[in-house]
Amino acid sequence: MKTKQFKLGPMDNFSYLVWDEDTRDAAVIDPAWQPEKLTEFIKKEQLNLHCVLLTHGHPDHINAVNAFAGGEKEVPVYLNEADYFMLEARPAGLKTIADGEQVQAGSLKLGVMQTPGHTPGSVCFTGEGAVFTGDTLFIGECGRVDLPGSSAEALYDSFVKLAALPDAAAVYPGHSYNGDTSTFGVQKEYNLYLKLARQGRRADFLLAVAG
Ligand SMILES: [Fe+2]
Repeated sequence: MKTKQFKLGPMDNFSYLVWDEDTRDAAVIDPAWQPEKLTEFIKKEQLNLHCVLLTHGHPDHINAVNAFAGGEKEVPVYLNEADYFMLEARPAGLKTIADGEQVQAGSLKLGVMQTPGHTPGSVCFTGEGAVFTGDTLFIGECGRVDLPGSSAEALYDSFVKLAALPDAAAVYPGHSYNGDTSTFGVQKEYNLYLKLARQGRRADFLLAVAG
C-alpha cells in the first residue's frame, strides 16, 4: 500500500491518498480544504478512487467530501454513525463503519478501529503497517476532549487499544502538530498520553487530559 500525505488548509489538516501499487485502486482519507490538490494527484498517478474514509465528522476533515462522494461511480463515504449528528448535510453514499470491520477499496483493504473520545464516532484506519489516527492521536499529543460529544474517559480506553499496536506501525495523524508522522514505537516512549495508557494509569491520564 502506498500513502501520500497532503497538508491542506488553515489548520494544517492532513488528507491522505492510499493505493495499491499494482492495481492503482485507491481510497481518500479526510478530504478537506483543497480537493483540487487531491484530484490532480489522482489524475497524475492514474488512481481508481473507490471510497472516501472519514476518521470523524468535524468539518475541517470533511469539508471537501462532496468533491469525491457519490457521482457516476457511486463512491461510498464511510463514517461511524455516532458522528452523523455533526454533519450539516449527509453526503451521497454515506455508510457507517464499526470496530473490526474491513473496508474494501477495490483490491485495497483497510481495517477499522473504533477510537471514541475526541468525538463519539472517531475511528482509526489501519492498513499494511500504517495507522491513520485522525484527531485521536497526534505526534506527541492527544485530541481535544472539550468539544460536543467528547469524552476523556472514552479517549483513555481508545489509547489503551492504540498502545497495543505494534511498534513498527506508522502513525499518520489528522493535523500537523509537533510533526507529520512517527511510529507507535516512538510514540509509546515520547507521547505522554500513550505512555500513561500503556502503563494502565487511568487517573493520571484523565488529569493530564484535563490540564
Ligand atoms: Fe476533530
